[in-house]
Amino acid sequence: MNPTTFVLFGATGDLAKRKIYPALYHLYIHNQLPESFSVIGLGRKEFNDATFQAHVKQSLREFYRLEVQEDDTLQAFAELFGYNILNIDHTGDFVRLKERVEGWERGIDGQANRLFYLSVAPNFFGMIASQIEKSGLGTVSGWKRLVIEKPFGHDLASARELNSQLSQAFREEEIYRIDHYLGKSMVQQLEALKEANPVLQALWTNKNIANVQITADETVGVEERAGYYDQAGAVRDMFQNHMLQLLMMLTIHAPHNMASAEDIRLKKKQILEALDPLHRPDVHEQIVRGQYAAGQVQGKPVQGYASEPGIAPGSMNDTFIAGRLHIDNYHWRGVPIYIRTGKRLKAKSTRIVIEFKEPLSSSAPADHTYVPNLLVIEIGPNEGITLQLNTKDPERKGEFKPVHIDMYPDRAEAPEAYETLIQDALGGDSTFFVHWDEVELSWQWVQPILEAFAANEVPLYPYEAGSHGPDAAAALLARDGYHWWFDE
Ligand code: BG6
Repeated sequence: MNPTTFVLFGATGDLAKRKIYPALYHLYIHNQLPESFSVIGLGRKEFNDATFQAHVKQSLREFYRLEVQEDDTLQAFAELFGYNILNIDHTGDFVRLKERVEGWERGIDGQANRLFYLSVAPNFFGMIASQIEKSGLGTVSGWKRLVIEKPFGHDLASARELNSQLSQAFREEEIYRIDHYLGKSMVQQLEALKEANPVLQALWTNKNIANVQITADETVGVEERAGYYDQAGAVRDMFQNHMLQLLMMLTIHAPHNMASAEDIRLKKKQILEALDPLHRPDVHEQIVRGQYAAGQVQGKPVQGYASEPGIAPGSMNDTFIAGRLHIDNYHWRGVPIYIRTGKRLKAKSTRIVIEFKEPLSSSAPADHTYVPNLLVIEIGPNEGITLQLNTKDPERKGEFKPVHIDMYPDRAEAPEAYETLIQDALGGDSTFFVHWDEVELSWQWVQPILEAFAANEVPLYPYEAGSHGPDAAAALLARDGYHWWFDE
């Protein structure tokens, strides 16, 4: 790979320290960074190169997932880092930054690439992009890329506005939008799981699948993010992005095993286009919203959302959302897809459950013990795949007994989301990044929910912290004759 400068905005922030430096370090010690590589950290804090390098090393000691060796390699890694003070309103700071990058590029051979990573609040994205353009930083001899994190807008209109700002400085194929769920190793497995296993491939249709359940339960509450979260709610924080991405990755039928980024992108877009649109008057029938009340999470008493510091009095914000979706295409027509996510629930778990149809229902006695076949894909924090099958119960004549086939990948070998994503962005592989079409279509689908919530047309159900969410979420399935699996 050609010489590359990694230009990091927000270099003294939390994400950089927890995720980006450890990921870069991991790639460095595994020889997966370009041979000539430098990082320029940017921020308003008074660091110089030396104090910034010390900060990077300290972040690794605290947050790298394995023990950090205090050796020459660590020192060599730290020396890749430099720091510039930068105020994004000051064009002069961008010109100084450009001179520094050019100075480094002059000392090396080959066309030079620049990757701009915006680890800052999204309201700065547009301004930074325009400063990059104005200062000439965006004029490169190699490639340039922009990496940004969610949220991509607050609703459909603001997402469009943001995109038009970014597109003044970057072309769509230069923009790498991170949704860290796409970096999770089990999400990256989904494609292979379906396409490389005829056993599953043959079953992956509405002929065999009764329903799909996608859950992302969290035990944490609003934490220190009241300002952001009270405006966002679960619908913007998790549903519009992570949950719909999980849905797309699960339900696409890519043309062949080694599908290209373009193939996958097109298939994902087709899923969003095939989602039955929600109309605002129907939102209350298909979507459940909840807010946590006081309770106990994992043995510890916790306060309700409304009493959390920084939450507006009488806030009607959603900390839980469940929905019933339907993909109107050849493969999925008629299969209800249930999605739920929320904070302060019983246990941290992101998982997908595929419930298969019951072949015996018409002939079996009413009290038969048949349990449907289930394929359970655990995405985090545990990772694994379980297939639940039925066997004849040797102890009870004429009855069945479920058995489980479990597969747990070797965690030590599975890369962290940011390791894979940064490596892919450097290598130009956009498969696990979010294309603008997906952002736009997902906001478009979610927009009636935002409007119905804002106008209070959907009841806000309180749920006890430490529970599985409001009963109404169970009722969403019960009316189709199903229940959420693993809610014991
Ligand atoms: C983030 C949300 O995008 O994802 C957080 O902003 C949430 O509110 C987090 O806690 C969940 O991610 P994970 O990887 O812990 O499931």
